[in-house]
Amino acid sequence: MQLAMVDDTIQPLDEINPALLDRGTLFGDGVYEVLATYDGRIFALDEHLRRFAASMAAIGITQVDTDLIRRRVVKSFNAAEIPQAAIYFHVTRGSAPRRHVPPDDLKPNFFLTVTERKEDTQAKTNGIKVSTYPDLRWKRCDIKSLNLLPNILARQDAADKGCAEAILVDDAGLITEGAGSSFFAIFAKKLQTAPLTANILPSITRQFVIKAAANVGLNVADESLTPQDAAAADELFIASTTQDIIPVVNFDDAKIGDGKPGPLTKRLMDEFRTFTH
Ligand code: PDD
Repeated sequence: MQLAMVDDTIQPLDEINPALLDRGTLFGDGVYEVLATYDGRIFALDEHLRRFAASMAAIGITQVDTDLIRRRVVKSFNAAEIPQAAIYFHVTRGSAPRRHVPPDDLKPNFFLTVTERKEDTQAKTNGIKVSTYPDLRWKRCDIKSLNLLPNILARQDAADKGCAEAILVDDAGLITEGAGSSFFAIFAKKLQTAPLTANILPSITRQFVIKAAANVGLNVADESLTPQDAAAADELFIASTTQDIIPVVNFDDAKIGDGKPGPLTKRLMDEFRTFTH
């Protein structure tokens, strides 16, 4: 008999909950998105859906219509009645006994959660410490894939050092991005961040940060920087959907500026608020 064992229970393989054979679990074979809502409104839904469509296309999941996903996102958000929420969803290639090449008739699985999104006011007010970690990821970090083991290891290392984010450094010694955020440095009137390549996620928040930068008179330079550059910056911050902009005041134990969130970062945070409210 082909079977499965779940903890101590043996069951015939063809009788187990299909969710246990999800290729997302077996292989990380799926893609995801995270959205934020502000005061009862979903922020940048179109942008997230567009990126999600690109992620699905990149891994050859072709059967899922993004209009259907849009309806599911809106329906779930309305049902949750949480004005300030994080909406997570993923699509995996489907459920089947473990073989690398999937069966032809596989139906993708969809999963979504709506959870409360608490703004980290402490981090926003005082800034955070970050530490560097080798970028151990694959060569398609532009795909928002479920494979996050290198990101988990990086964040755990940062947490062990009392830091809130790990800043990933590639084999050439250049910063790519945070383990779960994009990374920015300010030098005088220049805002510097890594260029959009397959080495980083095309962050939605990054798009809005760049828009905000123009509004506060910063010039944007899409140029990679080294940890040494970052440690010498006037200001640093990270950006991501769940917390938008968070100032960085300490980089690998080096104090940034006077150790407090910088004035231009604060202006960008104010400007960002005009997009979300
Ligand atoms: N992470 N880079 C990485 C590796 C990320 O995981 C994220 C977001 C970002 C920022 O992208 P965006 O601005 O589109 O959120 C950059 C999400 C929030 C997560 O995995 O929870």
